[in-house]
Amino acid sequence: MLQIEALKKQHNRKHFDCGESALNSFLQVLARQQQDKGISKTFVLLDSDQPTTIIGFFTLAACEVVSEELPQPLAKRYPDRAPGAKLARLAIDRGQQRRGYGQILMVEAMKKALLVADHIGIIGFFVDAKNHDSRVYYEQFGFISFPKQPREMFLPISTLRQVFAALKH
Ligand SMILES: CC(C)(COP(=O)(O)OP(=O)(O)OC[C@H]1O[C@@H](n2cnc3c(N)ncnc32)[C@H](O)[C@@H]1OP(=O)(O)O)[C@@H](O)C(=O)NCCC(=O)NCCS
Repeated sequence: MLQIEALKKQHNRKHFDCGESALNSFLQVLARQQQDKGISKTFVLLDSDQPTTIIGFFTLAACEVVSEELPQPLAKRYPDRAPGAKLARLAIDRGQQRRGYGQILMVEAMKKALLVADHIGIIGFFVDAKNHDSRVYYEQFGFISFPKQPREMFLPISTLRQVFAALKH
């Protein structure tokens, strides 16, 4: 059975390979350090039959956005700087890609962003797409680009709420 849990020492980070060395080394070197320091939080996807093997992971962090960089009319709605939640990393092991696991992690990450919105208050869920393919990938979940920096993307919290409200019906 698939499960998603917070990254722990016993999870095998060394053998994870998503094909992107920066993402692999983040998981291997930085993810737990950042977690311990309260900088970001990483969650891993596992199969209960192999509970130490990481199928994929995502990392969440708090962020602050310059409101004028958002698309109009949102830019005018907020103070100069506004709080958000950020999908700081998302990756699936090479041998497990294109099986829907990325989508499973994205839905879980969105749920967690909504929890933050319900308890603290954020204007949206943000992500930096590292290339064109990533941008296309995020667009299918409703992320929209900043007008001047198309690789910086976000999902307004109102859209996120609508998506989950629709899923419940
Ligand atoms: C990008 C990534 C997270 C997607 O996860 P995944 O489990 O492979 O993707 P899913 O199975 O959930 O994909 C669902 C749909 O998204 C689309 N998709 C998947 N990977 C894509 C990619 N790299 N580019 C564009 N669209 C993609 C496809 O339409 C796919 O459906 P299909 O397989 O039926 O065609 C994963 O491939 C990965 O880790 N890649 C390397 C690291 C990376 O680029 N991370 C993003 C950082 S910005």
